[in-house]
Amino acid sequence: MATARAIPPGRDAELSELERFARYPSLADRVVVITGGASGIGASLVAHFCAQGASVAFVDLAQAPARRLCQDLRAYGLPSPLALTADVRDVDALRAALGRAESELGSISVLVNNAANDRRVPSADMSVQDWDDAIATNLRPHFFATQAVAPTMRANGGGSIINLGSVSAHTNFVDLAGYIASKAGIEGLTRTLARELGPAGIRVNCVIPGWIMTERQREGLVTEEVLAALDAAQSLRLRLTPADVARLVLWLAADDSRGATGQRWVVDAGWM
Ligand SMILES: NC(=O)c1ccc[n+]([C@@H]2O[C@H](COP(=O)([O-])OP(=O)(O)OC[C@H]3O[C@@H](n4cnc5c(N)ncnc54)[C@H](O)[C@@H]3O)[C@@H](O)[C@H]2O)c1
Repeated sequence: MATARAIPPGRDAELSELERFARYPSLADRVVVITGGASGIGASLVAHFCAQGASVAFVDLAQAPARRLCQDLRAYGLPSPLALTADVRDVDALRAALGRAESELGSISVLVNNAANDRRVPSADMSVQDWDDAIATNLRPHFFATQAVAPTMRANGGGSIINLGSVSAHTNFVDLAGYIASKAGIEGLTRTLARELGPAGIRVNCVIPGWIMTERQREGLVTEEVLAALDAAQSLRLRLTPADVARLVLWLAADDSRGATGQRWVVDAGWM
């Protein structure tokens, strides 16, 4: 078991652990699209769905990490996902990417709205453009991607949509007003869309991660102070990894969770 202070290792360790965890027969061959899938939690989601035998596409702005992820998965003997380049702030480009995933892989039955940008801006310095950019990245795509995939899911008798929220909407973080307003908004959006789409068999859930040790976090944001704060806040003495989030998302995507919709699912090691 990891000691409280240790920062967990990266993708290699994660890929080598995939076999230790649950398999979901209902995910085999299912078409899954993940936004922001090139790095961080999104890349782990891509790897986990590929390992379940799903047909996976991901949408991301960043091309170099997208190529690296596909190479790493191939080197590990996993099928290469379809990497699509688009900026989720551009709703037409997002719609086009979802259309391309559908035309290349088939009807989308799982959508994970994961892309986000938590750029810090002190509230005193926030411009209208900063605010609009935060909402356009962190909230608007969740709605329009759902709107785009819902007709096919409806025609096929159902689907599963998973939106990534954040512990930051429930704690004491600052300089993130646009991001946190978006993340809080996702929780409300999840409930209303679950109600609207439920009669069509489409489930909509929100996963709320705590502090997850992604490569970006490990490289820039995790200081000794952060680790000490995590030790104080978390009930469990471990460092959460992208795989801890991905395994919950797998369950929400699979038929195993068929009765669950409109809910928040928290993976934060008991943050209090
Ligand atoms: N890492 C954490 O501790 C943490 C905590 C709480 C919630 N979350 C949530 O989990 C999700 C993933 O977080 P992460 O830490 O892996 O983020 P990350 O910044 O490491 O990765 C985000 C990915 O989204 C992509 N992206 C960003 N803006 C985009 C855009 N406009 N268009 C297309 N792609 C874009 C990036 O290129 C990147 O690949 C986010 O929704 C985030 O809010 C993360």
